[in-house]
Amino acid sequence: MPKLETSGPNADQIEFWNGEGGEKFVRYQNALDVMLEPFGVETIRRAGVKAGEAVLDIGCGCGDTSIDLARKVGITGEVVGVDISELMLARAEDRAAHAEMSNVFFELADVERGPQHRDSFDLAFSRFGVMFFGDPVEAFRNVAAALHDKGRVAFACWQELDRNQWVSLQLRAVLPLVEPPPRPGPDEPGPFSFADPERIRRILSSAGFVDIEIEPFEPEVVLGGLLVLDDAVDFSLDIGPASALLKDVDAATREQARDAVRAALEVHHQSRRGVVLSAGAWIVTARKG
Ligand SMILES: C[S@@+](CC[C@H](N)C(=O)[O-])C[C@H]1O[C@@H](n2cnc3c(N)ncnc32)[C@H](O)[C@@H]1O
Repeated sequence: MPKLETSGPNADQIEFWNGEGGEKFVRYQNALDVMLEPFGVETIRRAGVKAGEAVLDIGCGCGDTSIDLARKVGITGEVVGVDISELMLARAEDRAAHAEMSNVFFELADVERGPQHRDSFDLAFSRFGVMFFGDPVEAFRNVAAALHDKGRVAFACWQELDRNQWVSLQLRAVLPLVEPPPRPGPDEPGPFSFADPERIRRILSSAGFVDIEIEPFEPEVVLGGLLVLDDAVDFSLDIGPASALLKDVDAATREQARDAVRAALEVHHQSRRGVVLSAGAWIVTARKG
């Protein structure tokens, strides 16, 4: 696979998803897929995916939704997963080969630097892969160019941090022990950059989409899909915003943070399910105008 240039507006994201971020997503691929599955299933349902369709999976990561979509479109359809992370695409390719899928393909590409495809897809889909663009209007213009006339887009993105207890709980537990992080600007790329529905509408309509619908989807999630409390604590200290805050702290502070996170999670731990927390996403659908 050709390497992506680590320059330009998405240089930080390319570095992150090919380094620490990508490594963690590969390491916790199973845990993340169990936790995120309901969001993918619901977005696929609302997209109305049909047999024979061609689908672009944006920011497909380790390929979970690409493989689900490929099963839905069947052998007369096809799915192309695109991502900037070589590490995650390597895992996606392995998984598709193991599943003996012949209608799913993966490409290393920055959606914002395109279009890599023209007039090729019925649907552009994403599970939490569209919030990291430096210039989202440009990225969604490329997505529109890749769609057939009247092609559609369907994606899941996070609501604001406070509506996502599965990540805010640990963050609040460690904040008294560390330097508070700088507040990201409203247009900065990151997991919560599509939290404001008005911003989503502005981006999609500037990129040429119409019939924009933004619906809440707020299931309970089992943290990392993990049954055992201490596994959920390890998961929280290793991946996500709380772990980022603890990156450079000394051993004593890390131990205090572990106790604080454990105490916060324990309240929500159910012995037969794991740590059950609330989550809030938007499921967005639109059509190329
Ligand atoms: C939170 S992960 C989600 C991965 C996958 N969709 C899932 O649900 O497991 C975000 C993904 O978006 C990818 N990504 C970020 N910026 C991108 C860009 N400009 N073009 C393509 N992929 C991008 C990242 O490499 C990462 O795999």
